[in-house]
Amino acid sequence: MHPDPEHPDALRHEIAALVARYQDAAFPRASFEPGVTPVPVSGKVFDASEMQHLVDASLDFWLTTGRFADEFETRFAPIMGAGRALLCNSGSSANLLALSALTSPQLGERALRPGDEVITCASGFPTTVNPIYQLGLVPVFVDVDPGTLDADLDLLAQAVGPRTRAVMMAHTLGNPFDLDVVTDLCKRHGMWLIEDTCDAVGAMWRGRPAGSFGALGTVSFYPAHHVTMGEGGCVLVNEPKLERIVESFRDWGRDCWCAPGMENTCGRRFGWHLGELPFGYDHKYVYSHLGYNLKLTDMQAAVGVAQLAKLDGFVAARRRSWARLHDGLCDVQELALTHATPGSDPSWFGFAMSVRPDAGFDRYDLVTYLESRRIATRLVFGGNLLRQPAYLGRPHRAVGTMVNADAVAERSFWIGCYPGLTDEMLDYVIETIRSFVRAPVHAPRRDARAS
Ligand SMILES: Cc1ncc(COP(=O)(O)O)c(C=O)c1O
Repeated sequence: MHPDPEHPDALRHEIAALVARYQDAAFPRASFEPGVTPVPVSGKVFDASEMQHLVDASLDFWLTTGRFADEFETRFAPIMGAGRALLCNSGSSANLLALSALTSPQLGERALRPGDEVITCASGFPTTVNPIYQLGLVPVFVDVDPGTLDADLDLLAQAVGPRTRAVMMAHTLGNPFDLDVVTDLCKRHGMWLIEDTCDAVGAMWRGRPAGSFGALGTVSFYPAHHVTMGEGGCVLVNEPKLERIVESFRDWGRDCWCAPGMENTCGRRFGWHLGELPFGYDHKYVYSHLGYNLKLTDMQAAVGVAQLAKLDGFVAARRRSWARLHDGLCDVQELALTHATPGSDPSWFGFAMSVRPDAGFDRYDLVTYLESRRIATRLVFGGNLLRQPAYLGRPHRAVGTMVNADAVAERSFWIGCYPGLTDEMLDYVIETIRSFVRAPVHAPRRDARAS
C-alpha cells in the first residue's frame, strides 16, 4: 500500500476494502425456504472480487474497452482453444460479427454472397439465426434431435444444396452437437462452420473445447451464462485471416487496428493508399467494411476477469447439479430427459426435459405447478422458430418435417442447474416434480391469441 493515504493508489486500496464490506452487507447469503425462496433457472454468481474489479475499472475512468478487456481476451482464448478472443457487447452481436466476417470481400471466392444458404437448427435462440437474414443470406432449417436438442444430424447432409456455404448452429443448452459429423460435412462441401457456443462455455468434444472447431465461435456473457459481464459477448477466431476482419466489423468497419487511445500501431498511419482515397489518407479513417460499433466497456470486461477465476468451479458445479437432477428424475416415465451427445462432455446451461404425449398431463400443467412453487422454468428458446411471428413468410428452406421442433415447442422445457443452486434446492425441485407426477394438477387455460 502507498504510504501517503491521499495518494490515488492508497485511496483505491481503501475503496476496494470498503467495496468488500459493502458486498458482504448488501448481498448476504439467504437461507432456503422451500416454496418461498425462488429457485431461479440462472443468475449471477459473484462475490466481492467482481465488485472490486468493477469499481477498479470505474476508477480508471477509461470507460471504453481497455486493460481489462485485453486481459480477458488474452486469458479466455486459450481456455476456449481459440487463436484469438475478441470481446463485443453481447452474444447476439458476436453472432452478427461472426457471420458478417464471412461476407468480407477480403475473403475473395470464399466470401458469402447474398442469396447463399446457411444451415441452422429450427429449434433454438433467435439471434443464432437472425444474422442470416440480416445479411441477405437464406437459412436452411434442419429439424431438431429431441434427445439432445441439437440439430438432427441425419438430416444435415440432405440440407446441402448448390448454394449452401455455411453451417451456423448452437450447442444447445451446453450440449455439443456431434462435431465429427459437422466438421466432416463442412470439409467435404467447403462450407464454413460457426459454432454458437453462447450456452456452452466449458463443453468438450473428445477432450477439445466446443467453440474451437469452426472457423469462428461465439460466446455470451449475459447474466444467465456460465461467465457473466452483465452484457457482453465474444467472437472466438480460429482462422487467423478472420481476426482483422472481425475486429474491423466490430470497430466501425475501419481498416486500422489501433486499440482505443492508440495511434500508428501499423507504423504507417499516413502511408497507405487504399480504395480511391488520396495517398496518405489517415488510416484511422479508412473503412474496409460496412461495420458497426459493438465494442464493450472495460467495466464489463473487469467483471469478466473476476469471473474467469471461477470458471472451472462454475462448470463443475453445473455438471454436478445436472447429474443430481438426472439421478433424481431419470426413472420418471412421464418425462423424457435430454441426454449428452455421445462423445461430448457438456457444460450444462440448463436441465431440459419433455413431457411425454401419454403422460396424462401436459407441459403447461407441469410448468404452471412448478412456477406456483417458486421453481422457475424456461422453454427451449423459440421452440420451432419457423412458427414464430418474426419468421413467418420469410424465405428459407426446411429439411425434415419439423415434427420434432414442433414437439419441442409443444412439450419441452428446462429448469436451472447453475452454480447458485444448492443441493437442498435441487432436491426440492426433484421432489416437487415427482409429487406432481404422482398426482397431476390440470392448470386452467386462457387463450389470449391476438386477432
Ligand atoms: C444459443 C444462444 N445464442 C445467442 C444468444 C444471445 O446472447 P446475448 O443475450 O448475449 O445477446 C443466446 C442468449 O442466451 C443463446 O442462448
